[in-house]
Amino acid sequence: MTGRAVVVVGAGVIGTRQLHAVLHAGDRVVAVVDGDLDRATALAAESGASAFTSLPAAVAAVGADAVIIATPSASHLRLALDAVQLGCDVLVEKPHRVPGEDAGALATALERTGRHFAVGMTTRHWPGVRALAAALAAGEFGELLSYTDTMHFQLGPDDLPGWYFDRAVSGGGVLLTNGVHAIDRARALLGEPLELLHARLRTVFPEHETEDSAELVLTTDSGAPVLLSMLWSPVAATGAGVAVTGTRGFGRVAMDGSWSIRTDAGERSGPAIDADEPFAAQWLSFRDAEPGFGLGDLEPTLQMIENCYREVAA
Ligand SMILES: NC(=O)c1ccc[n+]([C@@H]2O[C@H](COP(=O)([O-])OP(=O)(O)OC[C@H]3O[C@@H](n4cnc5c(N)ncnc54)[C@H](O)[C@@H]3O)[C@@H](O)[C@H]2O)c1
Repeated sequence: MTGRAVVVVGAGVIGTRQLHAVLHAGDRVVAVVDGDLDRATALAAESGASAFTSLPAAVAAVGADAVIIATPSASHLRLALDAVQLGCDVLVEKPHRVPGEDAGALATALERTGRHFAVGMTTRHWPGVRALAAALAAGEFGELLSYTDTMHFQLGPDDLPGWYFDRAVSGGGVLLTNGVHAIDRARALLGEPLELLHARLRTVFPEHETEDSAELVLTTDSGAPVLLSMLWSPVAATGAGVAVTGTRGFGRVAMDGSWSIRTDAGERSGPAIDADEPFAAQWLSFRDAEPGFGLGDLEPTLQMIENCYREVAA
């Protein structure tokens, strides 16, 4: 299924990466949609696409096989439903919905139309995460002793647009924005249900409405501890990434994408990756309808995030 006609909604940082991924694969971006027409026009010019401020108007004017949604998080569910109802496949940036929203109407529309839907869990397309997933699935690490995922980022004043800290537009802070990756990754890699034991949220930057720190303690069915730590910090982070410890070896993926696996069967590793690389892999995964990124796959992750917010509020 090559040569697909794609509409990109959201001409910001991630919409730009997504547009490049589509072009890199030899597919076509036929329209760029943004609430700000100047932004849409500037990005559309990179691919000879048309610019619009409305998704239905874009699809009506140019037609499309697929829509990529890369707008602020609280607009994702509505735009995804619109895109499916317009007859398009949908790749939506994470999270596919924000806490308190119900994805029922989207599930019904997907069932009725048979359109393909996937959530952009980009970090699962990192070569190191794929290698770790394969090693875990093959039982290479022996009995799992612990799993930790540390997503720590230094945050300068202009590193993220202000909407990330406005709950009405973002839906939540670091737990939602980064925790959705960490929880999804743990669920996908470990392949067994996770139970939430404890959640602790904190604000580090006094000017932020949403949380900058989320510490989650979980456990697997087989009793291994799973520790997920998400942080936006004024200080440069050290040692962030995923670490698996088992009775027969170790696995690690750093936040720059470099990775190593050392088990009693041997050792292998890979280099840091370019930021565009996982978006290119993700587009191919979506185009080929790779399973594992659908609504049913991601809903339990959103439900766990909602449980964390509820537990902390209680
Ligand atoms: N997968 C990843 O690695 C990753 C990394 C960062 C961000 N993200 C996700 O990507 C999404 C976009 O983030 P960003 O950093 O690119 O934001 P951004 O602010 O750079 O871009 C968002 C764009 O959407 C436009 N927009 C806002 N509301 C709109 C609407 N209703 N309709 C059309 N256009 C609208 C804005 O004008 C802006 O141009 C977020 O949901 C974020 O969670 C994913």
